[in-house]
Amino acid sequence: MTIPNTMKAVHLHDYTEGFEHLTVEEVPVPQPGPGEVLVKMAASPINPSDLMLISGIYGFRKDLPAVPGFEGSGTVVAKGPGLLPHLRVGSRVTVGSQRDEDGTWAQYTVAKGMMTLPFNKSLGFEQAAALVVNPLTAYAMVDDVKRSGARAFMQTAAAGTLGGMLWRVGKASGLKVINIVRRAEQVADLRAEGRAYVLNSSEDDFDDRLAALAKELQATIALDAVAGEMVGRLVAALPRGGRVVVYGNLSGANVSAAPGQFIFRDKRVEGFWLSQWINDISLVRLLSVWRKVQGDASFRTPVRARYALDDINEALRTYSEQMSGGKVMLRPDGELSG
Ligand SMILES: NC(=O)c1ccc[n+]([C@@H]2O[C@H](COP(=O)([O-])OP(=O)(O)OC[C@H]3O[C@@H](n4cnc5c(N)ncnc54)[C@H](OP(=O)(O)O)[C@@H]3O)[C@@H](O)[C@H]2O)c1
Repeated sequence: MTIPNTMKAVHLHDYTEGFEHLTVEEVPVPQPGPGEVLVKMAASPINPSDLMLISGIYGFRKDLPAVPGFEGSGTVVAKGPGLLPHLRVGSRVTVGSQRDEDGTWAQYTVAKGMMTLPFNKSLGFEQAAALVVNPLTAYAMVDDVKRSGARAFMQTAAAGTLGGMLWRVGKASGLKVINIVRRAEQVADLRAEGRAYVLNSSEDDFDDRLAALAKELQATIALDAVAGEMVGRLVAALPRGGRVVVYGNLSGANVSAAPGQFIFRDKRVEGFWLSQWINDISLVRLLSVWRKVQGDASFRTPVRARYALDDINEALRTYSEQMSGGKVMLRPDGELSG
């Protein structure tokens, strides 16, 4: 395969709110170094973590200018020195980008061989592009719920992509799931999917209904992506000894909760970060989970729109205006028909 000298890549030049500051630039195709491969990118989703990175509020900042994009898929077309790069050449891989690397919103990206995982071809590039961030998080958090001995859990942002996975994986594990959304139409959509317990946090009686349902189903864990005052509402609704796991900050607000819930009712709040979870588990376990998320339809990602790299700002606007209903997928390969 002929590799061109230059490529298109999305560039972030400063950490400010909004998306108009992203540019698409023609830059040299990067060269893989020792232990690295060059991936010709096919697809890459826009995730909330990308919005956080662009706004400068993610867990770290990349040196600027930087190419955003935490995950994606493509084909390994060149290698640097090393056995793993040699083994990867020609493979279709899912690729994840790290703090010190450029990301996946480009026609080509260099990645450490260790950060590329071959996937089952039947999945296609789009499903493979979104096979790390949300599926591994869904797996890890439901596994945590099961290990805790809980029979049920509640979750916010339930109409989102990860919310769908958590429900499907939880249900398949025999857990009852209380789904919390913020709009009436989302209640109807989730009920139509077969979700038995759906509550709208915008309704006046939400807090009472949530507490009653948590008691009835013995939901002792809340998985929360909203943060802000929602955490205090979840803490209050949980039975004595309950736990909130905050894994997102969609509200952009600091967590607040009544201290008496922790002092007198033995409840607690903690965090979850996939990067830490991956660091903490063995390679053998990671590969076993990787096989699981490829083979189980519960981990599939609905896609509702596709954009070329040139249209990055429109893609980001489309996504941020409506996050429910499926992912917005960037297609560096220009394949917009899915
Ligand atoms: N900690 C980790 O390691 C980790 C890993 C993976 C994902 N995450 C987090 O998981 C969350 C969900 O990711 P995703 O890919 O599923 O996102 P997604 O598909 O874009 O869905 C986001 C959902 O959140 C809802 N939402 C947005 N802002 C909200 C707010 N202020 N209050 C209540 N609901 C709100 C959206 O509903 P509307 O349509 O009503 O806006 C939508 O249903 C994100 O916060 C992401 O950062 C964390």
